[in-house]
Amino acid sequence: MKLISIIIYSIIINQSLNIIPFNINDGIKYLGVDDHYEHYQAAIEGPNPVPNGVSYNSYVIIDDKILIVDGMHEFYQNQWIKNLEKALEGRKPDYLLIQHMEPDHSGNIKYILNLYPDIKIVSSSISFNMMKNFFDYDFEDKKIIINEGDELNLGKHILYFIKAPMIHWPEVMLTYDSYTKTLFSCDAFSKFGANDVDDVWDDEARRFYFGLLGIYGNFINAFLQKLEKYEIRTILPGHGQILTNNINHYISLYQKWSKYIPEENGVVIIYSTIYGHTKIAIDNLTEKLKSLGVKYSIHDISKSHWTRMIADSFKYNTLILASVMIDDDISPAMREYLEIIKSFNFQNRRVGLIENGSWNPYANRIMKDMLNNCKNISFLKNLVRIDASLDEKSITQINNLAMEIAEN
Ligand code: FEO
Repeated sequence: MKLISIIIYSIIINQSLNIIPFNINDGIKYLGVDDHYEHYQAAIEGPNPVPNGVSYNSYVIIDDKILIVDGMHEFYQNQWIKNLEKALEGRKPDYLLIQHMEPDHSGNIKYILNLYPDIKIVSSSISFNMMKNFFDYDFEDKKIIINEGDELNLGKHILYFIKAPMIHWPEVMLTYDSYTKTLFSCDAFSKFGANDVDDVWDDEARRFYFGLLGIYGNFINAFLQKLEKYEIRTILPGHGQILTNNINHYISLYQKWSKYIPEENGVVIIYSTIYGHTKIAIDNLTEKLKSLGVKYSIHDISKSHWTRMIADSFKYNTLILASVMIDDDISPAMREYLEIIKSFNFQNRRVGLIENGSWNPYANRIMKDMLNNCKNISFLKNLVRIDASLDEKSITQINNLAMEIAEN
């Protein structure tokens, strides 16, 4: 009985994790590693907190010819080479494909050239320029330059290359394998969180998207249009789990994110407070929203990381801003947050405003002015003004605001 319980428990646990199997399918093997030591945060994507780490994915296609898809962060070179040698079973790789030159996918190109001197590097011409800068070496006799639409025949696996600028650097060339109907997507469809951690793809992929790709909506959208001609059964990203079931779910989220369309109706509340009175107003608002069945998330601007506030701001259709006044301006953190969402093409949302001041409460006017040039923003008509602390009048205004939010 105990043994059966252990087996059932193991099955449940394994199902809840995102671990990528070594043998993926039809000759494609996984070479990646999980990073729990925050090299990623420290060395590469500084602004994004990754409490659950991140995975660096790399793959190899074993066929008549052998091709490695993407290199590895140099911190994990030894583990990667160990995985590669296991996959090669004594053979030698013919190609190293570099889809994106950021060092988490390319940190050890020279190292692998030393190990396998006959290997050829397959990449875009812009990548080769970057490679020279990164490694002070011009790879002249090693390079195979690929362009949009080029194909590379490995035997059964025939690869097609798709130019994908700004996902997440300008040189990116992604890859479709027509034999397995697999898209190797590098940073696209990636997420934060190591693969041995149980988390929710949508949430960590949204944070990854807006942390790295969010300002490039037009480029992402152009890339998604190019994908329409391919039948995709599997996506193998550069970070995070393999995507196999319900591919349309991931693509439709990318379509929404790239067009800055809300995923769902709901509210993100961003507030600044000094002595706690604005927080009391927000507690009051959220109680009403709860009673009206409105979904919401809250961020105290002095405590939440801005990347989390940005990701939530693009999830929901309604943004509520509440700011105190400091001297003659809104709080510096609120000003910074508004500058950031503007730079991320914030649009297609409803915005509600709450201001609090002891002697100069005109934060609503300042916040509204800051968002005025954003596309397709409608301001909720029920404004809230708090003179230092809540009173009957401001409580009524909060009630009215909550009712207006719930109308949708
Ligand atoms: Fe995963 Fe842009 O590097």
